[in-house]
Amino acid sequence: MKKRRALIAGAGHWSRAWGRELQNCDRVEIAGWVDIRPGAAEDAVQQLGLQNVHTDTNLDRAIAIAKPDFAVNATVPSAHCDVSIQALEAGLPVVSEKPMAESMEQARAMVATSERTGNLLMINQQRRHDAGLVATRRLVEKHIGPLGILTSDFCLGWHESPFMLGMANPLLLDMAIHTFDAARFLSRADPVAVYCDGFNPSWSWFSGDASAVAIFEMTGGLRYIYQGSWCSQGLDTAWEAQWRAVGPQGTVIWDGQTAPEGEIVAEPGVFPATKSRIAAELESDMPTWLAGSLRDFLHALDTGATPMTECHDNIKSLSMVLGALESAATGRRVAIEL
Ligand SMILES: NC(=O)c1ccc[n+]([C@@H]2O[C@H](COP(=O)([O-])OP(=O)(O)OC[C@H]3O[C@@H](n4cnc5c(N)ncnc54)[C@H](O)[C@@H]3O)[C@@H](O)[C@H]2O)c1
Repeated sequence: MKKRRALIAGAGHWSRAWGRELQNCDRVEIAGWVDIRPGAAEDAVQQLGLQNVHTDTNLDRAIAIAKPDFAVNATVPSAHCDVSIQALEAGLPVVSEKPMAESMEQARAMVATSERTGNLLMINQQRRHDAGLVATRRLVEKHIGPLGILTSDFCLGWHESPFMLGMANPLLLDMAIHTFDAARFLSRADPVAVYCDGFNPSWSWFSGDASAVAIFEMTGGLRYIYQGSWCSQGLDTAWEAQWRAVGPQGTVIWDGQTAPEGEIVAEPGVFPATKSRIAAELESDMPTWLAGSLRDFLHALDTGATPMTECHDNIKSLSMVLGALESAATGRRVAIEL
């Protein structure tokens, strides 16, 4: 089968992870790499030891010369909207990094462009391919029933991204999208409203709010409670967060790393209830991380199937971030509109 030609936009830190993933995929060849910083694309190509890759600082020119079949948008968030729309208009399906956009207006324009051009826009949420998260959803759906309560804790002492130190909302803007998207994946529920309190503990090394607590009302009456911090040191949670999912038949917990476990009750409503333990095995052979996202994207190109993080879906996860930011800024509960 002819290899699909990829063009990568953005040649920073994370785009190179995409570069390596594409390099390791025998169904794809990297045809072009673009970055507005002169020399950055050449540096990435050289670092990965790639041959015959057109490098450029101009996306339109690179598309014309490299003749890609699809684009990977790993530019900074402020460029996601323009770069994705430009590639879609040029006839290319796009897989873009999170966050999809910086505002709902931008995200709606991206969805509209995807619809009008007929080209796929998928957002990368590689944590959906975590074997533990997948096993947790399976355990919930098999034993627990529709969730009424879902909580997640995300606590790390993060020092590695200098650009975040001056951001107004480093946690909610950069990281929370992963956890919010996982909450939607686990519950199959969508956001209705949010109340969020963003704050910065006295010892924080960030200038913006590095901590937040949010209560989301979700479809079906579910309450999803998020607690997160970038400046919590000691007893770190996993990057995938720690979870508790409660439904009519019992509870499932997942530590974000190992296999989830739970307890189901024999007779709901009786105290003390007779409980039995449930556990799940992790699938060992599923493609995880970027390999899972790339598999979904290529499968969609091959078959026309809609990948789970296609833009019409992912805009709902983005709306949780933007709704939480609005609530934190205004101190009010915010209704979430798509
Ligand atoms: N999915 C994940 O787990 C994960 C992890 C890290 C980063 N990311 C996301 O990946 C994206 C890139 O992050 P990063 O850490 O590589 O940032 P970075 O700052 O290291 O690199 C971004 C690059 O984009 C380039 N750029 C900016 N505007 C451009 C444009 N219009 N056209 C072409 N290039 C442009 C910049 O010059 C820079 O080289 C961000 O959206 C980030 O949130 C996702």
